[in-house]
Amino acid sequence: MPANFEKQSYWHDRFQSETSFEWLASSESFMCLVEPYLYALSHEEHPPRILQLGSGTSDLQNSFRSRGYLDVTNIDYEPLALERGRLLEKNAFGDIKMKYVVADVTQLSDGLPANQRFELIVDKSTVDAVSCGGEAALLRMASSVKKSLADGGVWISLSYSSIRFELEGLPFDVEIIAKMPTPKLKINDPDIYHWCYLLRPKP
Ligand SMILES: C[S@@+](CC[C@H](N)C(=O)[O-])C[C@H]1O[C@@H](n2cnc3c(N)ncnc32)[C@H](O)[C@@H]1O
Repeated sequence: MPANFEKQSYWHDRFQSETSFEWLASSESFMCLVEPYLYALSHEEHPPRILQLGSGTSDLQNSFRSRGYLDVTNIDYEPLALERGRLLEKNAFGDIKMKYVVADVTQLSDGLPANQRFELIVDKSTVDAVSCGGEAALLRMASSVKKSLADGGVWISLSYSSIRFELEGLPFDVEIIAKMPTPKLKINDPDIYHWCYLLRPKP
């Protein structure tokens, strides 16, 4: 990724014309990886509260809604992304029931109501964009995510990097739950994967 992927101005320019695009994987293929954890987090008191980080022009929120999960908060620091997200939901369901909030994933407490916690936090390649700002930016994101997780909650992250979370001081235990092969153009092309991580807060 070029170095300016961490800059809001890059995404602002891009989302002027981009209305729908999926990074790394379709929402449905990502959901297949997320679903077992989602079921495990579903308990009777309330349905799992879900936070999507850096929603961009993805329709991942629609995959949650079509499975009956409505407590979904989508955040992005670029307001145009949230406009695109609302439109994708409206086009699919005829109305808007999920939340769309302008917030910076490295400072979630500034954008989200105090004490708001989530059982499931997901991102599809937003870690990659944030990492263009260096390890310190990714550590800020990680610390912010940890504070937003409810007890027993998890963060599931899809990245193109096999070493995305190999950094000192990460406040999470990390497990790779899937490596998704990417399509090849030629038969002899090397195997390239996208990596799905499960992150549980360190005690
Ligand atoms: C690589 S795109 C991924 C978009 C979407 N998740 C997908 O799968 O198609 C990264 C997204 O993260 C957003 N983003 C990058 N840095 C951010 C930050 N610090 N806070 C909030 N959003 C951020 C960008 O605006 C963009 O929408």
